[in-house]
Amino acid sequence: MLIILTVLLLVAVVVAALIGYAHWNTFRPVVRHVETTLDEQLGDKSELRIVQLSDLHMERQSIKPERMAKIIADANADLIVMTGDYLDNYDNLDKFMLYLDEIKKIEPEHGIWLVWGNHDHYLGERIDDLAEEISAKGIRVLANEWGSIEFGAQRLNIIGIDDFCLGKSDIPRSFHGVEDGWNLVLSHDPNVVLHLEEHHKVDLLLSGHLHGGQFKVPGAFKLFPMGELPKQNVISGMHIVNGKNVYISDGMGQAAFNVRLGTRPEITVHTLRAA
Ligand SMILES: [Fe+2]
Repeated sequence: MLIILTVLLLVAVVVAALIGYAHWNTFRPVVRHVETTLDEQLGDKSELRIVQLSDLHMERQSIKPERMAKIIADANADLIVMTGDYLDNYDNLDKFMLYLDEIKKIEPEHGIWLVWGNHDHYLGERIDDLAEEISAKGIRVLANEWGSIEFGAQRLNIIGIDDFCLGKSDIPRSFHGVEDGWNLVLSHDPNVVLHLEEHHKVDLLLSGHLHGGQFKVPGAFKLFPMGELPKQNVISGMHIVNGKNVYISDGMGQAAFNVRLGTRPEITVHTLRAA
């Protein structure tokens, strides 16, 4: 009996330590630097720096807004993009606005652009209120639409495809009328890349959604219905899929439980260079 109790106690201690460590990880962001070389020139600019934030998940976000904004500011980006999953409970709107206010103070030359994730759509019709609040701050919301930035005679198109996993993506509409230039595509769920056709020019697609697996117990991540890419072990970082450059951020917040194991919260600094 004493042996059984001792074993149970040891198991409880190990599990508690593991959960504590996994929660501690949510306070320890990493900055990943990713360089992408593209064929075309971008006007008189030789490179473009983009900070990507993904999956802030206000309900399970351990990093304070000031700290997050400091890391982003240090990257000295030309523009900031956000690839979905900000909140799924509208009670957390004020908290999200605190983050946006801090990030806005950075004032990147070419602004802040974002797309929705599946969790944002869980807000139902209130997603329209959220869009209004965000737009009122001068932040551009792209829902199956595009905008562009001019660099001399050249342009960078920013194409925002709405969330794929909830069936919100309208790819033809997102690309409709896009003119020549570099195409930066933002879309929360990277699986959308499997549905892009050859004529959909993508220089770089930025996504999130998969949280780097979040809690990496071998094989467990594949049990969740997260689409085709995780089945091919495409979960995190840069990949070429369907002939297109796709980057999958591990995100800054957590889904379901505020824990991470084998992956850390991520802020990504992308540098696009002309060859
Ligand atoms: Fe997420």
